[in-house]
Amino acid sequence: MTTRRVAIAGGSGQLGTALREAFAGREVIAPSHAELPFEDGEALAELLDRARPDVLVNCAAFHHVDRCEAEPERAFRLNALAVDVAAQACAARGVTFVTVSTDYVFDGTLGRAYRESDAVNPLTAYGASKAAGESLTRRHGERHVIVRTSGVFGTTGTSSKGYTLLEKVLQQAERGEPTRMVADMVFSPSYAPHVARAIRDLVDAQAWGTHHVTAAGACSWYEFVRTAFAKAGLANAALEPVRYAELHNPTRRPMYSSLENTTFARAGIAPLPSWESALDAFLAVRSACSN
Ligand SMILES: NC(=O)c1ccc[n+]([C@@H]2O[C@H](COP(=O)([O-])OP(=O)(O)OC[C@H]3O[C@@H](n4cnc5c(N)ncnc54)[C@H](OP(=O)(O)O)[C@@H]3O)[C@@H](O)[C@H]2O)c1
Repeated sequence: MTTRRVAIAGGSGQLGTALREAFAGREVIAPSHAELPFEDGEALAELLDRARPDVLVNCAAFHHVDRCEAEPERAFRLNALAVDVAAQACAARGVTFVTVSTDYVFDGTLGRAYRESDAVNPLTAYGASKAAGESLTRRHGERHVIVRTSGVFGTTGTSSKGYTLLEKVLQQAERGEPTRMVADMVFSPSYAPHVARAIRDLVDAQAWGTHHVTAAGACSWYEFVRTAFAKAGLANAALEPVRYAELHNPTRRPMYSSLENTTFARAGIAPLPSWESALDAFLAVRSACSN
């Protein structure tokens, strides 16, 4: 069944922008943060009753990992409690609820890519708030899609940082400035438009449940940026590998949080391209935008 009317919370962000494009041709309602603060359950219920979407996709989040450590109440208010209220409001109206979660629900000690069925054990307030949002969603019935993604990049910057890390380091390299990247933290970097199209396909396939939606494969931040530099014609740019411990960041992060998707085949959906192909797609759009 094709979804006709889609509401997106957090639709101005990195993934939300890609989702608006992925759902082009359908009726898309994407209220701004000011129009719909996601913590405002009454405003959300009013939107659902007025706009009557088939699906609500939640991209609104407090996801600055270090700031979540300092403000756990804020993290839980938006990433867990508001998600609970939204999931309940959707369930009560027969609206499909989609919410976006993270590889940070895992502790990174498993030694292989995490599957959907692996137990969560978040290290951070951010990861704990997202894991709570997942659990609270599940208690309102089966008509939901929980999407865990990782290291999202695209040509639209995240609202909390205002830029994508990849764009920032590419610009540094183009200016001839050196870059340091963590070489002992492994993840599955994922291109926002690829993630968005997969979310659309999961919704259309009514593939309820929890899905890992990342690019295929895994790499360290250092390997990711080194590959991006090479593909962008910046192979000689100064790039130094560092260990995460050398950054003296007090936040403990998962050191190996690559995600494996085991659910798409069952739903008849093609897996996402590799992270290297995702980089090619990103660089093609970046180059087209600069011409
Ligand atoms: N970025 C990553 O690497 C990554 C990795 C794994 C998972 N995720 C998850 O993916 C989802 C989308 O992330 P993203 O990268 O697209 O983030 P983003 O670019 O920062 O977008 C977040 C969006 O949410 C809106 N928003 C923030 N707080 C809100 C609130 N209280 N009420 C309503 N809207 C609010 C923002 O609007 P304003 O800008 O106007 O505040 C923005 O439109 C999040 O759930 C995040 O946890 C992201």
